[in-house]
Amino acid sequence: MKIQKLYITAAIAAAAVVSACNGGAPKAPSNLPVYLDDTKPIEERIEDALSRMTTDEKVAMVHAQSKFSSPGVPSLGIPAIWCTDGPHGIRTEVLYDEWDQAGWTNDSCTAYPALTALAATWNLELSELYGKSIGEEARYRNKTVLLGPGVNIQRSPYNGRSFEYMGEDPYLSSKMVVPYIKGVQSNGVAACVKHFALNNQEINRFTTNVNVDDRTLYEIYLPAFKAAVQEGGAWTLMSAYNLYKEQFCGENQYLLDDILRGEWGFDGVVVSDWGGIHSPDGVIPHGVDIEYGSWTNGLTMGKTNAYDQYHMADAYKERLADGRADMETLDARVRRILRLEFRTNMNRERPFGQFTSDAHYAAARKIGSEGIVLLKNEGSILPINASSVKKVLVVGENAIKMMTVGGGSSSLKVKKEVSPLDGIKAKLAGKAEVSYERGYIGTTYSSYNGVTAKVDLSESRTPEKCLSDAVAAAKDADYVIYVGGLNKEEGQDCEGADRTEFNLPYGQDAVISALAKVSKNLVVINISGNPYAMPWVNEVPAIIQDWYLGSEAGNSLADVLFGDVTPSGKLPFTFPVAYEDCPIRTEAQYPGILSNATGGATDVPTRILQEQYSEGIFVGYRWYEKESIKPMFPFGYGLSYTTFEYGQAKISKTFMTASQTLTVTVPVTNTGKVAGAEIVQLYIADAEASVVRPAKELKGFDKVSLKPGETKTVSFTIDASALSFFDADKHDWVAEPGKFTAIVAASSEDIKSCVDFELK
Ligand code: BGC
Repeated sequence: MKIQKLYITAAIAAAAVVSACNGGAPKAPSNLPVYLDDTKPIEERIEDALSRMTTDEKVAMVHAQSKFSSPGVPSLGIPAIWCTDGPHGIRTEVLYDEWDQAGWTNDSCTAYPALTALAATWNLELSELYGKSIGEEARYRNKTVLLGPGVNIQRSPYNGRSFEYMGEDPYLSSKMVVPYIKGVQSNGVAACVKHFALNNQEINRFTTNVNVDDRTLYEIYLPAFKAAVQEGGAWTLMSAYNLYKEQFCGENQYLLDDILRGEWGFDGVVVSDWGGIHSPDGVIPHGVDIEYGSWTNGLTMGKTNAYDQYHMADAYKERLADGRADMETLDARVRRILRLEFRTNMNRERPFGQFTSDAHYAAARKIGSEGIVLLKNEGSILPINASSVKKVLVVGENAIKMMTVGGGSSSLKVKKEVSPLDGIKAKLAGKAEVSYERGYIGTTYSSYNGVTAKVDLSESRTPEKCLSDAVAAAKDADYVIYVGGLNKEEGQDCEGADRTEFNLPYGQDAVISALAKVSKNLVVINISGNPYAMPWVNEVPAIIQDWYLGSEAGNSLADVLFGDVTPSGKLPFTFPVAYEDCPIRTEAQYPGILSNATGGATDVPTRILQEQYSEGIFVGYRWYEKESIKPMFPFGYGLSYTTFEYGQAKISKTFMTASQTLTVTVPVTNTGKVAGAEIVQLYIADAEASVVRPAKELKGFDKVSLKPGETKTVSFTIDASALSFFDADKHDWVAEPGKFTAIVAASSEDIKSCVDFELK
């Protein structure tokens, strides 16, 4: 008995040694200083570390030491903080002080679908899978902070960066952002939610001052950030480049001190956008916690003291010494940064991550195929039967262009990218002949930030010849699959500039119309992160809204085209018929009017663009419904290969008080022949209010998978928050007693049934 007991004890001890060697469970011995003792609460460890730091060490922590890193506390063994873009994959390594690539050969990542695609899945589980997977890649590459996700609202279809965000609706983006953050942070890597706030365009992003009323700010532009902080528990946020109330967002008292840290109780770190800080006196009192990417003279003229010239470096020390800055504010910043360190780098229990694994490609493929939106399928020409089709012609530059290369800071160097053409070829291998025609010439050279796409886009033919060759080839194809849309070139979906036209570029409208004349089985697939005009909508039988889908783009698309996956994505933004239909009507609304700055901040240029968000809360479907403008395709719209029938919605009771909830249920049946998933949406309409309210607003959704013939009952809980508007005078959310309608719908336009209730 005794021998056996000894034996067991030895085994436990051995296991503990093995576990310790693996960096696993055992805690640090208790003779360590408090800040290293992870049996102690984080707040105690922070105070201990802070008490051991010199002023120089504190100041060092609040600004960059290289392009993407800031120091920890070397004397205490607290590691540096390393950031990486974000938000669709882990950015390739750049040189220590430069944007140029470092030329590493081990940093080619997995590219995940763009965030518009994720939003189009309306699937919270996939958002968590996305976050977990990309977080694993960041962790594997030893990054502390992943610079994403982006949640700026799509206000205009011209925004060059819409593809990095989650659409036009604050509720949808609030729900979708939370699991992404939790997934990333489960790796001990911080998500960095960007760009806080009101960064809804790329043009003039450094000189635009947004004028927006409080109600619009709180109802439309802040909810996703608030959810990220309060529900997602985001550890970091990135300030935006633009101005609000004539203060740069990275130096903004209202956004950072009053709202984020004050009203929302954010205890994490705010990092500046790269180069978004403009003066010590702007940033020190209430700006960001860490300043990154400032383009000081030091960086361009002399590298020895470059980072000392940051606005929160030597200038901070001078101000501490002469009393213009106080230690309390600096300590508060350092506490937040130490908290980030303990949550990430100093967390000895965080996992190790993984990189370009099969599981990651599988995740990217699944998210991609679930995000694809089927817009039109006349005569059910889709899915294509891979066993009976003989000749398929693929047309369009986007069928071969590497879409992970380009677009700004989210550009990636990937280990693999399956193009739409390759995805289609793989599906039809040994079954049908697949040929390719370019159809139009967009770009002939594809290289970005040191990454050259592995595809030759040079072209010797004229655009006319490209088109006539495509039309000739289309004549005897069973199916013509057109893959076009926007791309990641400047002026398309790309950081740093906005789009300049609503139509598809490079003469694609004419190409699509010409193909439609010779093929009755034309499938138009457009890749984009924005809506665009479709003058050919009635000429073509099938349209698919594809997105930038990353490494598995072609496989995700082929899965949907050939019916291995039943499409189940729905639009996260409205497709208006024409740009003129959208809420942006005047120069004052966009891109703003050049005027004198009046706020008095010394670092603000004397002339700035004053932009008026005078459309107020009427953004996206809220606008089209108010103005009775019929869009081309409404928010929340998407078809399937099967059909769904909705039963009558029922409500648990016909009245509630502000502290109660009620439940709306609706049975949904798959009435078609294949399995599929339906996104059931709940909108709330306020019949009578003391303020103008949208016709209805999204307040719930659920994605249900149904086998043929199967029925499931979807249930939504309504509480006072779903009925509230932001009362600017009271500076609070108000749910006014009165009548409301709960609307169950398949899109913002396709209403299935309504139930009335009253708030007493
Ligand atoms: C972008 C950020 C990005 C940063 C670092 C900026 O230009 O606006 O979104 O994370 O660069 O690359």
